[in-house]
Amino acid sequence: MQTLAGKKILLGISGGIAAYKCAELTRRLIERGAEVQIVMTKAAKEFITPLTMQAVSGRPVSDSLLDPAAEASMGHIELAKWADLVLLAPATADLIARMSAGMGNDLLTTLVLATDAPVAVSPAMNQQMYLNLATQENIATLKRRGMHIWGPAAGEQACGDVGPGRMLEPMQLVEQCEQFFTAKPLEGKSVVITAGPTREAIDPVRYISNHSSGKMGFALAQAAQQLGAQVTLIAGPVSLPTPFGVKRIDVDSALSMHAAAMEQATEHNVFIGCAAVADYRPDTIAEQKIKKTDDSDKMTVTMVKNPDIIASVAALEQSRPFTVGFAAETQDVAHYARTKLAKKNLDMICANDVSVEGQGFNSNDNAITVYWKDGEQSLTLASKQLIASQIMATIADKL
Ligand code: PMT
Repeated sequence: MQTLAGKKILLGISGGIAAYKCAELTRRLIERGAEVQIVMTKAAKEFITPLTMQAVSGRPVSDSLLDPAAEASMGHIELAKWADLVLLAPATADLIARMSAGMGNDLLTTLVLATDAPVAVSPAMNQQMYLNLATQENIATLKRRGMHIWGPAAGEQACGDVGPGRMLEPMQLVEQCEQFFTAKPLEGKSVVITAGPTREAIDPVRYISNHSSGKMGFALAQAAQQLGAQVTLIAGPVSLPTPFGVKRIDVDSALSMHAAAMEQATEHNVFIGCAAVADYRPDTIAEQKIKKTDDSDKMTVTMVKNPDIIASVAALEQSRPFTVGFAAETQDVAHYARTKLAKKNLDMICANDVSVEGQGFNSNDNAITVYWKDGEQSLTLASKQLIASQIMATIADKL
């Protein structure tokens, strides 16, 4: 099917081993009706030849900013204006760093600066390079500027390492392009999402909390925004930047998250409870710092139950949003998730097994099974961004 008919895709290839997959990617895009213009960095040509890319794309490859002949035909500004989408795949750590710094020191980075087309970045690099704080901060900068980050996937790498940093497979990138160009399924809808942990104060300097980083909830907010929704994010105490185009409300304790959620829920079409809310809080908060005593080695904190936020939302009689919960389980995942789905009267629940290393709390990846009354969908281990896009697409289907 010509799902990309007439779409002009500028495929920017930088110098990573995954560049060899670009021939396949280009063929699949063209098969679906897209016009593909290849731009290569100098290093990319070490991994796949311009001749190969010219043959599969049917167009001369652009690779130089300072080539008078190339500038006389389709110069860099015309190329930048030509594209409906700029897709950077593979995007190496170096390319991402140069874009984050706003550099224009070759044709590809200059095009990214000069285009007003949407830019999608498909990171591909060694897992340690991907996890390096510098790369993470650079990716966060690109996201904040509204670029789409597609991937990476996790798994075995060309260098023998295992972890996040694999470029999405060509067909996954084609699907991302198709999704990008299809009507935004959440256009006109609004979504409110809770994310991160809560902090339950014991005294002015101490609190009880958990290991939630907010990454899953923030990824959901970004995915919903990219699918056209108006998004409000109720965030517990986390140190993550707000996704582009998302309204953020910062809260601290379960009680403050409950208050914000109840205020927002009826104003939105969808409510997603991704936050790891403390089930209990200290009965009283000491006014002064609790002092250590010499007469006992034990200290007792009496806890009282917090309100169940998502159950309160799902119980709304008027203007009840489509309500999606999460279940963080360490055993019997399916059983406990289905029990929570029914008990909390949810429309859908996303279950993650948080006993498995590398997924769940404070990880970059996740694996989820989504349950609803008469069905389920399993989403295998991938970056939280990809999992979030898949969850949001499933929710959009059910609205
Ligand atoms: O933040 P990350 O580091 O990215 O990690 C993601 C995550 C593991 C936190 C996330 O994927 C997840 O599983 N979130 C739900 C965590 C949780 O509290 O699960 P639960 O099974 O205890 O709670 C079930 C549901 O009830 C959840 O939707 C929760 O938000 C909600 N709840 C729980 C207690 C409460 N008092 N109010 C609630 O609304």
